[in-house]
Amino acid sequence: MRYFFYLFIFTNLLYGFDFNTQANYDRLALIKYMETKFKDPLNNIYQFFPYSNQSQLKNFTKNITKDQFIHGIYAFDKESQKEKNNQLVSFPFAPNIQNGQYLYKRYIQQCIPYPTVFGDYPKFNKKTNQIITLSNAIMQCAKKQHLDIGDNGWNYYSGKTADVEAYISSISAKAKNKIDIKIPTKEAFNAYQNGKKEYYSKRGLLNISCASCHIQGAGKKFNNQFLSPLLGQINHFPVYKTSKQDIFTLEYSISQCSYKQGETPHKPDGKWMANIIYFMSYSSNTTPILQDTRR
Ligand code: HEC
Repeated sequence: MRYFFYLFIFTNLLYGFDFNTQANYDRLALIKYMETKFKDPLNNIYQFFPYSNQSQLKNFTKNITKDQFIHGIYAFDKESQKEKNNQLVSFPFAPNIQNGQYLYKRYIQQCIPYPTVFGDYPKFNKKTNQIITLSNAIMQCAKKQHLDIGDNGWNYYSGKTADVEAYISSISAKAKNKIDIKIPTKEAFNAYQNGKKEYYSKRGLLNISCASCHIQGAGKKFNNQFLSPLLGQINHFPVYKTSKQDIFTLEYSISQCSYKQGETPHKPDGKWMANIIYFMSYSSNTTPILQDTRR
């Protein structure tokens, strides 16, 4: 009995000192799930892909490991990869990066001194007890200087904010930084738990969760589109959308998914968005940052 008591104290100390324990456990479980699922899709059809047809799965790359998931659907679907290669020869958003570099140096560097921080966001602000995403940090900085906020200026979905993010992600990728999110306090852990709860909760007209599509559903098709896995998903933002010939932020993709779920999108600058991005980003810890993604 006494030993149980000591064990109890010991685990409490462990959890008390390191708020990352549970989140790390979740992260490792996600990696294991994805690696097992994509080891041999055709062979695992009954376990993981009960409604997929065999010819689709035959076209999947096998034995995908942790870091390769950063390529999203291109990690497993050879057809999409081929299409992507044929679509554009040159890097699609070089001009955005160039503009982003200019805007960063002129306006944002005073708030975010180093451009190598892509993998460090979201961060937890101990003073306000809030999660700060990279977009939050950029937008707050733009607002402080009374810059032009709106559709054609600084906004959460595209425009100048997306250009600055493209620059920051390119520099962070070149520095070979990895996603490295931290959970420094109990309040930060609560924000992570809240994001995780929202990610797994069924919502909207379709009564499904983000996880239904991007965990259990990863590799399956929805509306004739393959679904990408949560693991490695935040790593390649902003993304270039060939259909719109422009780049878009993570907040934009998430709000589009709210429509897919049959729900009104959540505010891009709100707590819901920040917490869910915190959870999603932590899930990709230790994986590399990637640019050159077309959607
Ligand atoms: C009904 C299925 C469905 C649900 C539910 C869903 N999504 Fe998606 N999501 C998609 C599809 C389809 C795409 C485009 C293909 C892909 O996965 O890259 C997508 C793309 C994304 C992307 C961009 C991936 C990339 O590589 O460009 C992100 C991020 C994302 N979803 C997050 C979420 C979040 C967060 C939720 C819950 C709030 C959610 N999704 C709910 C279907 C869904």
